[in-house]
Amino acid sequence: MGKLQGKVAIITGGAGGIGKGIATAFVKEGAKVAIVDVNEEAGLEALEELKRFQPESNFIQADLTDHQNLKNIVDDVVSNYNKLDILVNNAHASRNKPFLEQTQDDLDLSFNTGFYPTFYLMQAAIPHLKETKGNIINFDSGAGVEGHASQASYAAAKEAIRAITRVAANEFGKDGITVNLIAPITNSPGVKQWAEAEPEYYQEVLNKIPMKKFGDPELDIGRAAVFLASDDSKYISGQTINVDGGSVKF
Ligand SMILES: NC(=O)c1ccc[n+]([C@@H]2O[C@H](COP(=O)([O-])OP(=O)(O)OC[C@H]3O[C@@H](n4cnc5c(N)ncnc54)[C@H](O)[C@@H]3O)[C@@H](O)[C@H]2O)c1
Repeated sequence: MGKLQGKVAIITGGAGGIGKGIATAFVKEGAKVAIVDVNEEAGLEALEELKRFQPESNFIQADLTDHQNLKNIVDDVVSNYNKLDILVNNAHASRNKPFLEQTQDDLDLSFNTGFYPTFYLMQAAIPHLKETKGNIINFDSGAGVEGHASQASYAAAKEAIRAITRVAANEFGKDGITVNLIAPITNSPGVKQWAEAEPEYYQEVLNKIPMKKFGDPELDIGRAAVFLASDDSKYISGQTINVDGGSVKF
């Protein structure tokens, strides 16, 4: 029996990087997973891989900036699998720029892909999670927790996500729902792009990681997410779990 045997999960941004790593870790533990992503080609490829472990895996092609459609995603998953146990709000897009150069468009990109989908998917999912005493896993970043230079729009959306995570942990603890955050450092397509664009900054971050390496999407972040979605962590809620090789220490 897997640790997530029979559980149903939605994972946003599941076509690549951390989202795909979590989806893979989940299906290997017996979960049925619906990955949601704007990238159809990568999503279908990821689906093929997930189906090797769980034939009932699903890919929903959707742009999370279409906020009106977010409730439909949850409704479709519940009508397909008859319940929902786990919501992972992982997708987020943003631009690094000096504080004085950040525009409304930069703020909109970060909040429209990160904060608002997290908020509205939580609203749509919570009535179903009450039925299953389920879990929500949201995503923060050291950029938010520590306030990294050149990441104002990203850090702001991440800390807004942290705020609603704690609010929901307080509001729905009585219903048996746990709501936590992972703040990761991991190799992913997003990090690869960033490393190519800003190699010095990448090296600086790498040098500061006590374990001297970027994590693995499945084996490091995926396993932490399995823990937060499983019965092993039933009494942990409202927390930020730094899965970052020891980089952030509060
Ligand atoms: N990788 C790291 O080291 C790191 C560090 C700190 C925080 N994080 C956070 O972890 C999460 C995952 O990071 P990652 O590095 O795997 O990201 P990534 O950029 O590699 O992958 C993000 C996925 O989200 C999808 N996506 C983006 N915009 C979307 C939209 N509008 N609608 C639907 N799907 C969309 C992309 O297609 C992609 O598959 C993010 O919340 C990120 O902020 C990552």
